[in-house]
Amino acid sequence: MVELWLWSLNPAAHKISRLAAHLDTTERERAARFRFEPHATRFVAARGRMREILGRILQVPATRIEFGYGPHGKPFLKTPTVPPLHFNLAHSDDIAILAVSRLAEIGVDIERLREGGANEVTRLFSVQEQAEWQALPADLKSLGFLQGWTRKEAVVKALGGGLSIPLDSFSVRLSPLAAPQLLSLPSHAPGRPQDWSLLHLAPAEGYVAAVAVAAPGQNYRIENAFLP
Ligand SMILES: CC(C)(COP(=O)(O)OP(=O)(O)OC[C@H]1O[C@@H](n2cnc3c(N)ncnc32)[C@H](O)[C@@H]1OP(=O)(O)O)[C@@H](O)C(=O)NCCC(=O)NCCS
Repeated sequence: MVELWLWSLNPAAHKISRLAAHLDTTERERAARFRFEPHATRFVAARGRMREILGRILQVPATRIEFGYGPHGKPFLKTPTVPPLHFNLAHSDDIAILAVSRLAEIGVDIERLREGGANEVTRLFSVQEQAEWQALPADLKSLGFLQGWTRKEAVVKALGGGLSIPLDSFSVRLSPLAAPQLLSLPSHAPGRPQDWSLLHLAPAEGYVAAVAVAAPGQNYRIENAFLP
């Protein structure tokens, strides 16, 4: 079972001070480097709340969580736990989503619904995905693109490479008329597509999201993110 938390990145000022107090030196320096105040606030609201949630799961204070970073920047827990705790964060505008799995590597992505996608599909998607997208009725093309995009980002985030992994090196099913499915993996990725779960969710009105986890038969449960 994948656990999901959703929260707003536009909290009241007193909450921001509480969340900022959880951050370590590196995170504070990163927050200070944002040129625009709303971006700094969103970073603090995302990182501070992620620390609170992981701290609650591990039963340690939020400040005690120590992050390591993979070669392409994916955060992980510096001190491994038994069972392992895999997590991944995504944000879009004022919404954050944290996905947690005790089983296997996990990735999540969220996007605001918008029109378009033809360019990105042609430039970035696999031949198989382009064919599926072309066959969609016109009124499903924007949603089909964003479903494909979030699913593909969730996969490359689970693998840890992010966008250093060519998006046309693997395929997902993207049609709003079919269940999400991982059809093929990049050649260096461990396992087979059927060993993965690809999950769709509409986390809030106007948004689409996806979770990829390197374990079969997974579902998700939305937890209450609105901590005091
Ligand atoms: C990971 C990545 C896809 C995130 O894209 P995004 O749409 O801007 O951001 P999202 O909201 O989906 O996710 C951001 C969160 O993912 C996590 N993250 C960062 N790097 C990650 C990675 N390589 N894999 C998985 N998760 C990652 C972090 O928690 C980050 O939150 P933070 O910015 O508050 O620290 C993108 O930053 C990326 O590709 N990074 C790798 C860069 C790289 O190696 N580029 C090589 C040349 S292309």
